[in-house]
Amino acid sequence: MIREILQVGSPVLREKCKPVERFDGELCTLLDDMKETLKKANGAGLAAPQVGVPLRVVVVDVEEGYFELVNPVFVWQKGEQTGPEGCLSVKGKSGIVCRPERVKVVFSDRKGDRYSLVARGFCARAVCHELDHLDGILYTDKAKNIRDEKE
Ligand code: NI
Repeated sequence: MIREILQVGSPVLREKCKPVERFDGELCTLLDDMKETLKKANGAGLAAPQVGVPLRVVVVDVEEGYFELVNPVFVWQKGEQTGPEGCLSVKGKSGIVCRPERVKVVFSDRKGDRYSLVARGFCARAVCHELDHLDGILYTDKAKNIRDEKE
């Protein structure tokens, strides 16, 4: 089911999200809905608070693949990259954000099994952007030169 993507100004986007404790049907439904919602919005990533759920859950859909990260935690962050970024919760804008070039995160899958992921480049950028959402941080807090996107 497609869920509504909340826009900046919604209080839940500023919450510190809670870890998932139950790996149950409700989590599966949330992940399935987030995947469908992200696909329809044609985005690179979506965090649960963006659909009104203050839990530590993100999905990322990039060239390297589609990832579901539950309770993700950074292991390390290396290097630096500077580039444009946007957000489905800040429609019609983009800004320049400095992010790590490479990151390693550990996370659970929907069954609760723990994995790790090393991401670089745009994938690392997307992971960092989405993990920020879980702490109530929007890219606009970090961006320079926020501007209206050209059609
Ligand atoms: Ni975002």
